Amino acid sequence: MKATALVLVGSFAAWAAADPAPVTHAVAVLQPAKDGKVAGTIHFMKDAGGVKVTGTITGLAAGSHGFHIHELGDCSAADFTSAGGHFNPAGNPHGSPKDAKRHEGDMGNIEAGADGSVTLNYTDAGLGFEGANSILGRGVIVHANPDDFKTQPTGNAGGRIACGVVGVAKGQ
Ligand code: CU
Ligand code: ZN
Repeated sequence: MKATALVLVGSFAAWAAADPAPVTHAVAVLQPAKDGKVAGTIHFMKDAGGVKVTGTITGLAAGSHGFHIHELGDCSAADFTSAGGHFNPAGNPHGSPKDAKRHEGDMGNIEAGADGSVTLNYTDAGLGFEGANSILGRGVIVHANPDDFKTQPTGNAGGRIACGVVGVAKGQ
């Protein structure tokens, strides 16, 4: 009886100590703000240079739109202010994805064509899935206006027209 209990405790300890597989693929499904029609699915995949960002967003006004990871994966408010500010674990100033010091969530602008859609396929060296830098569970926000890469701490990109949450996806 005693021996059985010990074996059970031992095997539970081994199971609990095993590291979960590292996340290499995440996905965010965008929902539009009230009366909006922006939709899209964004994939985030770990690659050698950072995190590869792919996907298509539709229903946009033609032109540039600020595109950020925000601190909170909370799209519950009608204006998406519930997603908080830009995800900034390093305490950096707001900037562009090309700046050495930027908010981790500063993914720049997306450029919608005349048909209101944009297809993304690039790698962002600033994004990560590990520890304090993990984008998992954070919010993805598309803004009404362009990010000017200067105005602190928002880039003055205007209202929030779409919101999604970065969730763990099936690895690949
Ligand atoms: Cu934003
Ligand atoms: Zn920022």
